Order: sequence, then C-alpha cells, then structure tokens
Amino acid sequence: MVENNPQLVTQIRNKFLNVDNCPVSGKRIFFENAGGALTLKGVLEASNEFTSFPDNQGRSNVASEYAMSKIQRGKEDIRLLFNAKSGRVFIGESGTELIFRIIRDAIVSSEEGGNVVGSTLEHPATRSAAIRWSKIFNKKYMSIPHCNADGTVTPQDYEKYINKNTRVATIIHSSPVTGITTKVAKISQTIRRLSPNCFIIIDGIQHASHGIIDVDSYNADAYIISPYKLFSRHGYGVAWLSERLSKVDHDHLIGGPENSWELGTRDAGSYATFSEVVKYFSWLGSTLSSENDPRIRIKIAYEKIKEFEKQLINLMVEGTKDLKGLRYLPNLKAIGGFENESRAGLISIYSDNLDSFEIVRLLREKRIRVHVRKDDHYSGTILKPLGLSSCVRVSICHYNSKEEVLNFLTAMNQICF
Ligand SMILES: Cc1ncc(COP(=O)(O)O)c(C=O)c1O
Repeated sequence: MVENNPQLVTQIRNKFLNVDNCPVSGKRIFFENAGGALTLKGVLEASNEFTSFPDNQGRSNVASEYAMSKIQRGKEDIRLLFNAKSGRVFIGESGTELIFRIIRDAIVSSEEGGNVVGSTLEHPATRSAAIRWSKIFNKKYMSIPHCNADGTVTPQDYEKYINKNTRVATIIHSSPVTGITTKVAKISQTIRRLSPNCFIIIDGIQHASHGIIDVDSYNADAYIISPYKLFSRHGYGVAWLSERLSKVDHDHLIGGPENSWELGTRDAGSYATFSEVVKYFSWLGSTLSSENDPRIRIKIAYEKIKEFEKQLINLMVEGTKDLKGLRYLPNLKAIGGFENESRAGLISIYSDNLDSFEIVRLLREKRIRVHVRKDDHYSGTILKPLGLSSCVRVSICHYNSKEEVLNFLTAMNQICF
C-alpha cells in the first residue's frame, strides 16, 4: 500500500530528478506523466557521459570498445525488459518515426491487395502511417470504432473487422487519452486465427511505464515504446521486430548488414540510458524480494507499480471521509467512467459547466501540472464521438505520492461547482 510503504515511496522518489520541482517554474505536483515521465538520476549521468564522448563505434581503441559494450548491453537490456527471446531490437529517432517506418515496411512487403486494420483508439502516428501507406499500396484501410463507454477496444471488436485478407493490423496497448489498457495477447490471438500471416504491430508507448511488456506471449511482429515516457530521455525510440518482420525489405546501406534496422551512427548514450531504466526496475524488484532472476525482479517491480497506481487512482476517484473524490464532485465526469478495471495510471475528466482550459489554468495556479486534450488530430477520434471539444488529462505514475493526490483533490474541491 502507498500508505503503508512511505519509506519505499521516499526511496523511489529519490531515484528521480525534479520530483516536486519544475526546473523552470519551481514547486509543482507533476500529473503530466503521459506527456513525458520523470527522468531517473542514473539516466542523466549515463547521458552526460556519452554526450562528452568523441569516439565512434567500430574503432580499435578502448573508448570505442567501451561505447560498443554499452550498445551491446543496452540491446540485452531491451530484450530483458520486452521479454524478447527472438527477433531484433533497435533504436530509432522517436516512437512516431519507428511506428511510421515499421508500418510502411510491413505494408510494402505484404502480399498485394487486401486490407489493413486499426482502431479509433490509436495514436495518430499509427493511424496516419497505416492510412497513408494503405492508400499508396491499394489496400483498404479499416478503422474499428472503440467503445465510448469503456474507452477501449476488445478482441470481439477486432473479430468483426479482421478477415483472411488482412495484411497488417495495429493494436494500441494503452490509450494516452482514455487511460484504458487493451488485451493485446487476446487481440493478437484473434487476428492470427483469422489471418495467420498478418503482420501485427503494437504501440506500447503509453503502456510501458504502467504495465509489464511480454512480447514472447503476444505472437505479434512489432512492439514500439518511447523511452522519454519510461523514465529515460527524449531523442530516441525503441522497437522490437519478430524474426519474420525483421527480414522484410527495408532501408539499409547497400553492401552493409542486411538485417540492420538502424540508420546511421548509433548514440551509445541512448542505449546506456535505457540500461539505467532496466537497472531501476531490477532495483525496485530487489527491494521487494530476494529474487536473483532479473526477469522475475522486473515482474515484481511492475506488480508493485500497478498496485501503487491503482491505489492512487482509487484515492483520486473515491477521496477520503473528509475530502470528496472526483466522482462526487458536481458536474464532473470521466472518460471511460470513474470505475474501470482496465484503467492504468491516467484519468481524463471533464466538467459540464467548466471549460477544461479553465480547470487546467486553475490547477496551474495551484502548482499542479495536468494537461488539456483537445478534439484535434491527437484526440479527436476519442473526444468527438463523446460530443466533447476537450478534457483534462490527469496522468500519474507510481512515484507520485498520496499527499500529492490529496493536494490535487483539495484543489478540485475548490474548483468544481
Ligand atoms: C500511445 C502513443 N503512441 C505514440 C506516441 C508518439 O510517441 P513519440 O512522442 O515518441 O513520437 C505517443 C506519445 O505520447 C503515445 O502516447
């Protein structure tokens, strides 16, 4: 319990930078984790080390060998965190760039004709890439409408759209607007049953800081995350590809290794910072058990993260005997409902009589950072069907504290009428 574990919460918070202080504007509570999570102190150190490094990989000197060993270690750590025993892992420019590139190459290399399937829950990176490349390659793009009431999309929804001609299907693991997680393994199973050779591409960018990744159990072809949303830094994205998808024709240097998916000189610092993220999960797992197996430690860490986040969201929704929770505040509603078992670390709310921008402004004045989502190209597919022009996204992480939630609730009790 967050309440029963104040020491662990303090230990966790000590691992991160700028926990309760914005380096630009001073003291604040950070509930904008879906826009970018806090950075680990170890990430800053690893990043600094390699920023100052002039040596490139592939040279015969110790500095070059050191950088290459960090890249190798980083790759092993990505595999460990993803539980990826086969296939390829690599780093690209960002989550969006990797999603575009992987969807394009999957569509380009798939059998002629057929269709490509995604859902309205997905981020515009996935939808834009799938729609664009389907059109160029004469494939029909089909969009599964998500459920407005639950804020998610189910295996049954996919079942209605996938057929034997589906060449590529995309799945979002967790929505950064509704905060609701999908059942990726079951969706993937449904897709495989109906179209065994379909390339299945999963966007795990919102999910990664809230729930375990287990690509070995998904029977999919690609999984993509953005490290700046997983306690690391901006400037790179991470992807895993199945053996099958890694072998399709793709951009690479003629004469160079054909199975390389990395374009240009690698930033050893990105791999080194990712290793710090995996080290953090391992540390958290080791404070909670005596397990030596690194994968089991990661599992234990994620279980605790899930438990902490559920408690924080529950407190936010229900409040205490002295302080009303969000569900009891006048005219306030939640996308996907206040009670939703599949919610992970994020709740998007709106008021019937208060503008979302105004709520964000009032919270900002009280030094609480949340974010407005508008019915634009990012969130329109989720907000428009609800007749909403905006909502307030409150996104937490396991390092947030009970006190921060209570401060937020005090502010919301003053704001809502
Ligand atoms: C689910 C999801 N997909 C894709 C992206 C885009 O990732 P990036 O900012 O790394 O391009 C985001 C960013 O928040 C996201 O939440």
